[in-house]
Amino acid sequence: MDRRNPVSVNVPPPGSPLIVLGIETSCDETAAAVVERSADGGGLILANVVRSQWDEHRRYGGVVPEIAARAHVSCLDILIAEALSISGKGLSDLSAVAATAGPGLVGGLVIGMVTGKTLAMAAGRPFLAINHLEAHALTVGLTDGLRPPYLLLLVSGGHTQLLLVRGVGQYERLGTTIDDALGEAFDKTAKLLGLPQPGGPAVERMAAGGDPRRFDFPRPLAGRAQAHFSFAGLKTAVRRRAMDLVPLSDVDIADLCASFQAAAMDAVADRVGRAMEIAEDRLGADASRRLVVAGGVAANKALRTRLADLVAGRGYTLHVPPAGLCTDNGAMIAWAGAERLALGQVDDLTAKARPRWPLDENAPPAIGAGVKA
Ligand code: KG4
Ligand code: ZN
Repeated sequence: MDRRNPVSVNVPPPGSPLIVLGIETSCDETAAAVVERSADGGGLILANVVRSQWDEHRRYGGVVPEIAARAHVSCLDILIAEALSISGKGLSDLSAVAATAGPGLVGGLVIGMVTGKTLAMAAGRPFLAINHLEAHALTVGLTDGLRPPYLLLLVSGGHTQLLLVRGVGQYERLGTTIDDALGEAFDKTAKLLGLPQPGGPAVERMAAGGDPRRFDFPRPLAGRAQAHFSFAGLKTAVRRRAMDLVPLSDVDIADLCASFQAAAMDAVADRVGRAMEIAEDRLGADASRRLVVAGGVAANKALRTRLADLVAGRGYTLHVPPAGLCTDNGAMIAWAGAERLALGQVDDLTAKARPRWPLDENAPPAIGAGVKA
């Protein structure tokens, strides 16, 4: 894709400090933020406003795309005004406007992009069409000042991927899920057990009081040569055991949650361990032995503990952004925009929403990973 901008806009000279407005509307969070990137690459969040739509979707047990789009329209302008006001910046102070272009629900993406393009045009500044996954991948640059290369575990409601981040715009997918995303498995397990959505935090809360050894659930794909994931079988195993136990007591629910979470985290740790070996192979002497976790499920304490054990045993360091910057937010979009802008990359106003937009376009399909060694 040609990321150069044929439209006449004010592109800052290389090495300048940058101030970027970021807009996120790809799923069920409406978010706007203003982030500053210093000339030496340091990041500072000047404002970060997020409005979750869960109250609107709750009664349907999942995200309804039409409701999401309407909710974005109803509050995005207010959130942007709020972010600008908190940051103390006006449109003329911005270096660029960045909006999520994909992957995600097309209705929301279009709303964020049209808004972002309009503001960019009004301000006479460049527009940046941001890949949501790239924004998750680069967040540690903003929070920890961490620069690639590193191994990234991205675990959210829509994605479960292991990526080798070699540089801004340089991603190699080492593993992905062949069925459900990890957050989706948490959400579906919560729904099955009558717990509220989003299911991840609800399952984690219940699991805290449960026995993780009561049910011996499968650890899908453990030991396989490729670093792929699978959670559908685990979800089905939980359903079967729950059906056997109906009516479920609070203790049953807590034990099911704890046993599900333990199995899921064992499976994740096994797959990440495999990806570390692949990454070390790929990077050779450059292997940085740093594991970054991003996406909504990174808020899970059992995951953090399990991965902390794993990295300690392998001589890695673990980097997890604060919970509010692991779930969807505008600061990560603004930061990804600033990182691209610092490299002189901008998009033109014809950039389109991309409901499907893999970070590594060359990654072979993971179909068949469940049966191959
Ligand atoms: O990244 P995110 O905010 O949105 C996208 O999916 O892009 O992630 C939301 C997902 C949901 O599936 C939610 O249940 C899960 O992250 N999640 C958690 C926890 N907090 C959020 N899963 C497990 N444990 C948590 N504490
Ligand atoms: Zn996300």
